[in-house]
Amino acid sequence: MKDLLRVADLSPEDLADLLRRAEEFMRHPLAAHDLLRGRTVLLYFAKPSTRTRISSETAVARLGGTPVAVGPAELQLGRGETIEDTARVISSYTAAVIIRTFADQDVRTFASAAQVPVINALTDGHHPLQALADLMTLREHVGDLRGRKIAYVGAATNVTHSLMEAAAPAGLSIAVATPPAYAPDPAVEATTRKLSTGGDLLLTGDPLEAVEGADAVYTDVWLSMGDPPEEKAARVAALSPYRVTAELMSAAGPDAIFLHCLPAHRGEEVTAEVIDGPRSRVFRQAANRLPTVQAVLEALL
Ligand code: CP
Ligand code: NVA
Repeated sequence: MKDLLRVADLSPEDLADLLRRAEEFMRHPLAAHDLLRGRTVLLYFAKPSTRTRISSETAVARLGGTPVAVGPAELQLGRGETIEDTARVISSYTAAVIIRTFADQDVRTFASAAQVPVINALTDGHHPLQALADLMTLREHVGDLRGRKIAYVGAATNVTHSLMEAAAPAGLSIAVATPPAYAPDPAVEATTRKLSTGGDLLLTGDPLEAVEGADAVYTDVWLSMGDPPEEKAARVAALSPYRVTAELMSAAGPDAIFLHCLPAHRGEEVTAEVIDGPRSRVFRQAANRLPTVQAVLEALL
């Protein structure tokens, strides 16, 4: 495997190895401190980021390298240099590239032209690094994920897609409750079904059906960075019945935890009572972004 562009790029063995290694990096942060000595990793972020950007820069430092972070205004890409030329040139300087942008096709184009590993740090369609931290956090709560269940409630997003694709090789059942207009991409649904190793995939319009027996309830923002801002009012109207409330949490399993990739909007997709309450693991989940990206960098290098 040269790149990590979506979770479906990972075999069940790759996924298990990454999670195991991330758990080791959590305990021993400097376990591979010489891997990137004298080398750089480019971070290109065309959208804002708190967790992914800072955890990735820190992971590069922990592996002994130097992160080089640039935005769209700083590269000649913004003046029309092609993605392919940019990828070829950057490959001659850096050990790997971590990219957050809009269209998934742009990251695929970059990765095909690059001679170094390329990691998707969030596109409109996928957020594979997030899904690794999500599974790591759930494993900390329940141990082996086989036979367990996660429920996602809200608008299907890049985060939902990567979670679905991660559940499949992990043997984790996933139920996704969305209004019909904000359902997951049918292509991701098909991939998830194809890659399933025993877990179920349920797509429903009913949040109560989705959370029944779940070990975790997950949500994400109702308007993602790649969505048109003028959709906000329609989304709030359609998604209000999908807010994660204390009542919805009590319909899940008695030990169910609450997960959210963050940033969160209290009072929209989740109430403050839930995200700031005793079942919430969102800050542990955010902390797990660091050892997971460290594991990905090590595996690809
Ligand atoms: N969850 C996540 O990717 O957060 P950032 O947008 O802050 O990186
Ligand atoms: N779905 C959200 C995730 C942010 C980490 C977005 O793309 O804005």
